Amino acid sequence: MLSHLLYKEGIDCVVLERKDREYVEGRIRAGVLEQTTVDLVRRAGVSARMDREGILHEGFSLAFNGQRTRIDLAGLTGRSVMVYGQTELTKDMFSAAEARAIPIIFDAADVQLHDIQGSTSRVTFVENGQKRELAADFIAGCDGFHGVSRSYIPAGVRRDFERVYPFGWLGILADVPPCDHELIYANHERGFALASMRSHVRSRYYVQVSLNEKLEDWPDDRLWDELTIRLGEATAPRITRGPNIEKSIAPLRSFVTEPMRHRNLFLAGDAAHIVPPTGAKGLNLAAADTAYLASELTNYFRSGSSIGLNHYSGTALARVWKAERFSWWFTHLTHRFPEGGDFGGRMQMAEFSYICGSEAAQRSLAENYVGLSLNFGQESL
Ligand code: PHB
Repeated sequence: MLSHLLYKEGIDCVVLERKDREYVEGRIRAGVLEQTTVDLVRRAGVSARMDREGILHEGFSLAFNGQRTRIDLAGLTGRSVMVYGQTELTKDMFSAAEARAIPIIFDAADVQLHDIQGSTSRVTFVENGQKRELAADFIAGCDGFHGVSRSYIPAGVRRDFERVYPFGWLGILADVPPCDHELIYANHERGFALASMRSHVRSRYYVQVSLNEKLEDWPDDRLWDELTIRLGEATAPRITRGPNIEKSIAPLRSFVTEPMRHRNLFLAGDAAHIVPPTGAKGLNLAAADTAYLASELTNYFRSGSSIGLNHYSGTALARVWKAERFSWWFTHLTHRFPEGGDFGGRMQMAEFSYICGSEAAQRSLAENYVGLSLNFGQESL
C-alpha cells in the first residue's frame, strides 16, 4: 500500500518481501475493510476488482447466549464496511506493482538495516544466494510482528506494551454460502464464535479455543458442531457445512511499540502494533499508518522540510491506541475469560443488555467498528 501511495506521488521505492509470492498470495487473512481503507485503496489506484467484488455491509449482529441484536452501522454512523479479503487485496497490489514497475524482491533473506542515523541509510539482504545492498533516504519497516525492523530502534529509546490473551481463534474457510448476509459475533457460555465470509459462496468461521488445543483435536465435524451450538438456535439451521480449504489456530495479542520512528526508520503496521482480531482492525490500522507516512514523506520531498516527518509517530500512535482500546474492549465483551469467573460473566451480560437498550452505546460501538477517520482528534492536521 505504501509503495503504491508513494508511486502516485512520484517517489521511488523498492519492496523487500521475506516469503515467495505464492506463499503470500495463499495466506488467509481477515476480510473487513473500513471506509478509510477502501478510500485509500481507491486513492492508490488499485481498487478495480475490490469495487467489483467487494460486498458492502451496513450492519452486523451480536449474539449473547443465542439472543441476537443488530448493530445498524449505516443508520448509526452513516458509514459502512466492505467485505473483501486482505489476501485478494494483496494479489491486486502485486499485479498493479508489476504493471507500474514497482520492484518487489521476493525471498529476500537476512535483511539488515545500516546507518539509520546517517543522511543515507542502507539495507543489505540476500537474494538467490547473492548479497545485495540498497541505499535509501528512508526505510519503512512494514515487516510485521516477527520482522527485524523494530529491533533497530535502540532499547533505551523504545518502549513495548503488551497483553497476551489466554485463548486463540480456530478458523475455518469453506466454499459454502454464509449463514447470514452479515457477520455475527457471538458470546456463548462455551466461548466466542464468529460467522464471517469472503463472498456469497465462501464462508469464514472462528471459535475461541484454549491455548493448549491442537488442530488435530478439531476434526471438521467437531468444529461445525461447536459453531452450531455457539451461534445459537436461530442461526444453527442456516449453517451450511462443507470441506475446509484452510483451518488454523491463531493466538490473540495486543501489542504496541513506541515510538514508531527512529531517525530514518519508520515502522508501519504489525511491525509496530498487533491487535486481537475481534473487529478486524489489524489490516485497517496498517493501511492508516501508510496513509500518514505517505503524506509526510510526500511533504518532505516536496518542501525539503522534515517537520511533518517528526509528527508521524505521534499522529499514527494516537489512532493506533484508540483501535487497540476498541479491539481489547470488543474482545472482552465477546470472549469467555477463564479468570473472569461468574462475576465476569454477569458483567458481560449487563454490558450486552446495556448495548441492546442504548442507542448511545450502539453508536459508540458502530463508530469504532466502521473506523475512526484519519484526522479524528487531530483536527489541526
Ligand atoms: C474474517 O473474516 O476473517 C474476520 C472478520 C471479522 C473479524 C475478524 C476476522 O472481526
